[in-house]
Amino acid sequence: MAKHDLIVVLDFGAQYSMLIARRVRECNVYCEVLPHDIPVSELKKRDVKGVILSGGPASVYEEGAPYADPELWNSGIPILGICYGLQLMAKELGGQVKEGKKREYGKAELLIDDQTNVFAGLDEQIQCWMSHGDTVATLPNGFKQLAHTDNTNFAAIGNPDKKLFGVQFHPEVVHTPKGVEILKNFIYIVCEAKPTWTTANFIEESLKEIKEKVGSAKVLCALSGGVDSTTVAALVFIDQGFMRKNEAQKIEDLFTSKFKINFIHIDASQRFYDKLNGVTDPEQKRRIIGEAFIRTFEEEAKKLGNVPYLAQGTLYPDVIESAVAGSTTGKMAKKIKTHHNVGGLPEKMGFKLIEPLRMLFKDEVRALGRDLDVPEEIISRQPFPGPGLAIRIIGELTPDRVKILQAVDDIVVTEIKNAGLYKQVWQSFAVLLPIRTVGVMGDKRTYLNTIAIRAVNSVDAMTADWARLPYDLLEKISTRIINETPEINRVVYDISSKPPSTIEWE
Ligand code: XMP
Repeated sequence: MAKHDLIVVLDFGAQYSMLIARRVRECNVYCEVLPHDIPVSELKKRDVKGVILSGGPASVYEEGAPYADPELWNSGIPILGICYGLQLMAKELGGQVKEGKKREYGKAELLIDDQTNVFAGLDEQIQCWMSHGDTVATLPNGFKQLAHTDNTNFAAIGNPDKKLFGVQFHPEVVHTPKGVEILKNFIYIVCEAKPTWTTANFIEESLKEIKEKVGSAKVLCALSGGVDSTTVAALVFIDQGFMRKNEAQKIEDLFTSKFKINFIHIDASQRFYDKLNGVTDPEQKRRIIGEAFIRTFEEEAKKLGNVPYLAQGTLYPDVIESAVAGSTTGKMAKKIKTHHNVGGLPEKMGFKLIEPLRMLFKDEVRALGRDLDVPEEIISRQPFPGPGLAIRIIGELTPDRVKILQAVDDIVVTEIKNAGLYKQVWQSFAVLLPIRTVGVMGDKRTYLNTIAIRAVNSVDAMTADWARLPYDLLEKISTRIINETPEINRVVYDISSKPPSTIEWE
């Protein structure tokens, strides 16, 4: 890729590391999340313009607390420490960190003592978001107080000569309304990074890079019909049998009418059902589906002649959450689940992967898709997982159970759309549970399946909050499901957020 100035977020285990990276990219500067202990030599090799240290749940004096390469502090690379990052920098440079008298959590008024550098152009008093127990008690040599709150003297500190800054609050969250300005000041003024990271540049550079890599060889593109893989290219579509109601046909119609491409629709559902027969373990399901996908593609590729490359729409959050060996983050991001297009693929496969979107967030892909004239209908689709409804049918997968969920899911999506909420909520869907409960219909006892409705708000799927859907809408969905699906007699609403839950149930 052409050289863009690079800002790096070192991940100390914060929920918000990804969010910091997104915010930096919103300022049109390229940003990656890297492990907290990456050697400074690696950062220098990549000519990193600035480092942001994320927050994290640990306390700096705790045994095993995550640390940074000791050479970082005197490397000359500008640093902005956030929360834990600030405390670590203070401690490592000779200051003291103490357990605060009381935890500070939530909104606070920040009084700025020095309106230069990271606080240039800001009012004397701004709102910020705090979430910490420990605080800096004494400053390292060369540092001064830059801002305080009622509760914390050193809410922001800095050693401007060495370009080292730290904030106790979280500039990356929306509850710090001027937070992006603070990040911009760090990126543009302190690091002097240039804002060249735009989708237009990305298209041009990716095309060049892919052409150089692929030459005249053939590329098979794995299409699920969603925004990510559609934005990647054109296209082989494998129907694994777990698509939403009528979706396979809709996708084929759309692609053959809107694009001049060689569209191949493969119905491989029987193969998937055979392999998944009797399987109930979520990770096993994911691995089997990943493997069956690749084997189907390999067979298809053989029919097309020599096709060395497989392109797919893997995104940055998939990469981070799957935390596979060789991914850009290693230490802190723990494996949550094997997203099938990252860790779920078999080790041995007859393709080299092309993943043009691997370093992008969903909102960046949507912007890119619009620049590439991908139809709005696809751009605005809610995310749908690669393994499809298979991970929303808890327990065994059978054609009958898939049919039930397709019907129910269609009701949920239709009603959410009718209520005008489809684009507002990040995802809204139904889950079929493997339990039966007792009900009564027309004076008769029933003993039928349960459906859970899940709707969440999110910015990047790393964290999510359950959506406060209107009761009337929930009532309508529930009534329609029970009236129209003879196999269901109970509907429940999932009111858990991520973390501690995940968006999907498997
Ligand atoms: P979780 O359930 O991990 O989901 O909170 C986060 C986001 O990722 C989607 N998801 C997947 N997408 N392949 C995908 O392409 C997968 O295997 C997969 N698993 C989960 C999920 O729908 C949500 O948007």
